[in-house]
Amino acid sequence: MDKRKIIIDTDPGIDDTYAIVAALTYEGFDVQGITVVAGNVGLEPCVTNALGIVNMMDADCLVYPGAPAALNKLGKGENFALAKMIHGESGLGTVQLKPDLSKKSETHAVDFILETVRENPGEIEIITLGPLTNIALAIQKDRETMKKVKKIWSMGGGVRFGNRTPVAEFNYWADPEAAKVTYEIGEDVEINMVGLDVTHKTRFSLEDLFFLRVECGEIGSLLSEMSNHYMENYWKYMRMTGVVVHDLVAVMLAIDPDLSNEDDVFKRVNLSMVCEGICKGQTVVQFPPTDIYEEEGPKNANVYMGIDNIAFKKAFFKLCFPEAYSMYKKYILK
Ligand code: RIB
Ligand code: CA
Repeated sequence: MDKRKIIIDTDPGIDDTYAIVAALTYEGFDVQGITVVAGNVGLEPCVTNALGIVNMMDADCLVYPGAPAALNKLGKGENFALAKMIHGESGLGTVQLKPDLSKKSETHAVDFILETVRENPGEIEIITLGPLTNIALAIQKDRETMKKVKKIWSMGGGVRFGNRTPVAEFNYWADPEAAKVTYEIGEDVEINMVGLDVTHKTRFSLEDLFFLRVECGEIGSLLSEMSNHYMENYWKYMRMTGVVVHDLVAVMLAIDPDLSNEDDVFKRVNLSMVCEGICKGQTVVQFPPTDIYEEEGPKNANVYMGIDNIAFKKAFFKLCFPEAYSMYKKYILK
């Protein structure tokens, strides 16, 4: 099987960690590099966490530091409105992963993205798990090169609801201008929006997290431990037991889009970003039939709205913890 060439852009992040573990495990991916953007926590701890994940997975790809703040805050010393309350001070709950400093590149994330796409036109797929600032900076620096990206799989946005505000999802809320710039190339590059509408169709239950801790080795135990912090927030803010591992949904759909059935995916629709005001960060999607809209926008996105939660979790455990998979199906999945 020809391996797919992947760049992961991330703000690790508890759910980012699950996603990166899956992406680095999947044999169909040749991960070219991990680019980092501030988001859940500041750029430096995000880079440290990414180096820790690469070390934990003994991965051979490098980590490329990127944007420390949103487009409109660059150079002003401000970080994003961080999501420490959700991911903890370190960004990984109470877990501290030992970073492999030898894997930290001196090349900026934006330059790495552009160099890799120039060398592999039409072959690079970018999976974005945080704010889209690095992607937008690359587009602003060299739009023609970025139009040669094969696909973008983007965890972000929410059509029917938000999580940072009632109408906006965190990644796109943190840098809505970057999201707007990114979707401007959506007529040339397939952009798959994996937003809250689909991620919230999944849930790792308390039993799933228990099983990760006791039957899935050191990596499973670390994922479970970092999820404790995450879990408390889902109970506090949403009265939900268990957690939604948003970023993992983007990676698992990139691996196998058939986890969503076809009537749960709206292909080639218009997605617009709200960049200011009370609805800052909102994604407005023109679902068909489009004759009701006064003006039809460019068809710049595929929008995922549903997924089979059981199939999603089975695919994750089978991929990442194959030795425990039969036990998972027998005792946990029900
Ligand atoms: O809204 C969920 C997204 O925001 C995820 O990527 C999570 O890691 C946070 O960055
Ligand atoms: Ca993230």
